[in-house]
Amino acid sequence: MINPIASKYNNEQRLLHGGDYNPDQWLNYPEILADDIELMQKAHTNTFSVSIFAWSALESTEGNFHFDWLDKIIENIAKIDGNVILATPSGARPAWLSASYPEVLRVNARRERMLHGGRHNHCFSSPVYREKVEIINTKLAERYGNYPSLLMWHISNEYGGECHCPLCQENFRNWLKVKYGDINTLNHAYWSAFWSHTYNDFSQVESPSPIGESGLHGLTLDWKRFVSDQTINFYRHEIAPLRKITPNIPITTNFMGEVTNPHPFAGLDYAKFAKEVDIISWDAYPRWHNDYETTEFLASKLAFLNDYFRTLKDIPFLVLESTPSMVNWHPVNKAKRPGMHMLSSMACIAHGSDSMMYFQWRKSRGSSEKLHGAVVDHDNSAENRVFKDVAAVGQALEKIPEIKGSKTPAKVAVLYDVENLWALSDAQGYHGGMDYNDKKYPQTLHAHYRAFWKRDIPIDVVTKDKNLTKYDLVIAPMLYMTSEETMEKLAVYVEGGGRLVSTYMLGVANENDLVHLGGFPQKLRDVFGIRIVETDTLYPKDRNAIMWGGKQYEAFDYCAIIETCGARTLGTYADDFYSRTPAVTMNGYGEGFAHFIGARTNEDFLDDFYNIFIEKLGLSCSLISAQDGVSVQMRENGENIYYFAMNFTEKGRQMTLETEMQDMLSGKMLQSGIYDMKPYGVHIFKNNKLKGC
Ligand code: GAL
Repeated sequence: MINPIASKYNNEQRLLHGGDYNPDQWLNYPEILADDIELMQKAHTNTFSVSIFAWSALESTEGNFHFDWLDKIIENIAKIDGNVILATPSGARPAWLSASYPEVLRVNARRERMLHGGRHNHCFSSPVYREKVEIINTKLAERYGNYPSLLMWHISNEYGGECHCPLCQENFRNWLKVKYGDINTLNHAYWSAFWSHTYNDFSQVESPSPIGESGLHGLTLDWKRFVSDQTINFYRHEIAPLRKITPNIPITTNFMGEVTNPHPFAGLDYAKFAKEVDIISWDAYPRWHNDYETTEFLASKLAFLNDYFRTLKDIPFLVLESTPSMVNWHPVNKAKRPGMHMLSSMACIAHGSDSMMYFQWRKSRGSSEKLHGAVVDHDNSAENRVFKDVAAVGQALEKIPEIKGSKTPAKVAVLYDVENLWALSDAQGYHGGMDYNDKKYPQTLHAHYRAFWKRDIPIDVVTKDKNLTKYDLVIAPMLYMTSEETMEKLAVYVEGGGRLVSTYMLGVANENDLVHLGGFPQKLRDVFGIRIVETDTLYPKDRNAIMWGGKQYEAFDYCAIIETCGARTLGTYADDFYSRTPAVTMNGYGEGFAHFIGARTNEDFLDDFYNIFIEKLGLSCSLISAQDGVSVQMRENGENIYYFAMNFTEKGRQMTLETEMQDMLSGKMLQSGIYDMKPYGVHIFKNNKLKGC
């Protein structure tokens, strides 16, 4: 693992601006390649991810390598003082590889082997694929390791998916043997006596399948864990030659996030993966200007994901892909309205990104992405609206390089646990189906998150492996899967003076998705001073209410029926057979407090509830306030606080500066006072820390 502080990347003084560059598609068009270099300068870009899907161009037939074209590309980028993030090409493989070695082709859950085609579809276990990847990666490292413009490695592309081939089954069984030792321990963990599914031997265990086993929740969980581990194992194999030959070049791989729901890609445990990469990066594709939510609401979902990726390593991350205009895979692929490109770019930088990179530099001429937005369109022009918007972002980033490396001082965290998402989506109970969205775990985390985002309070989205003690407040909604270890961690946090908030569905199952016996676990009873005795699931139109603080708030979807055993009742239900029973509680435990919210509510309750914490803990200390729809986010380094004031509305808005500050984009010093903001307007202010809060 490289210490990013000592790495070459750290010496780069600029925020990264550029994107995926696929010259391998244009090798027969030398004039286009020449134009690219000129246009890159005009676009104020400085960094390009190259060769992501270039395996065929690099190795046209087995062992037949061609690097001349890539030499020229990298040299030309170097001539304009550009950086290269060089990709290993394993995200898509050449036809010769599939034809000669069918074992590299994935087998799906129905046990059908795929044909050659597509991408992101190789078997992570295949020794042949690993060998071929090692060869090409070694050659890339040997050839380009000393190129001064090589900034970073981009490993493969958006790792994801699973393979059910015999090689993967074998690895899965070995993984299970290491985990459980003997088959009876596994049988117990999977509760396999249910429907007589008891295994006699590890050789009988198969990955979950729609034509086979899908009801053993422990098995499904372990399979997801295995797929994640096996992908990371493959990644480790990929990077081994790079670490050996280029120990000073940092490594990233582009993670994914689903902004709509919102949650990080759920096919991998990114908390584990994060430990293996030097710099976190992700691909951000929000559906701006959609017809079902406000721009402000969508901005808070993007912020939630940016904060998750920042918190993974507690250092700034990179947005490695985004679109300068539109994608080609949303239900409706709408163009970014004037002003949105600058706003959406700064929305990422404001939350800790040190880059704004695009998919892609130049729009493909053919195949499935020929209509996907790009910096350079088919008109090859620097004069169109999209190109000019990109150049404007480039110029803006050139004015704020000192922001690179600055951090976000969060004292509040909301806990996101991918294993909990896996378990909840498998759980046949509560609300319907078996989908990531049925029980609305990510949406609920986001709802709690929003109470802070709306008040411009920095907040981390933390995973359960992280140290919680640095936070004044930790919010862990819907923590259905609560292992003994997690309970202990939460208890220690509260005991030491932390404030913890949790909700309905807390403490149901252990790490194997076996329900805790004896009802609500004793450790949680001690911490929260309550016992959950039942959980009522409501029909979509059903409503109950919470009476709290002299007001009544709508409650829906889930109502936990609780009894207190030490906690103070702060709020009660208004209706139904549990009317007047506790709905909101608070309990002192050690030096801290644990709070419980029994039901799902609207934002009004969460706003009022968390405002009390915000005031009590003094969490609000921004020197800029603004009207609704404007978000003010901050980053800081040893010397300055940087405020990003962003108007996520289609209307003019006002902001109030409490002190004199420098507007970094205009270069002007602004006195304290009230200022107008344009629709989609962005201002970045610098304030000397000594004068701040
Ligand atoms: C990403 C992928 C890119 C490109 C892009 C289109 O998920 O990494 O290669 O396909 O989507 O939006």
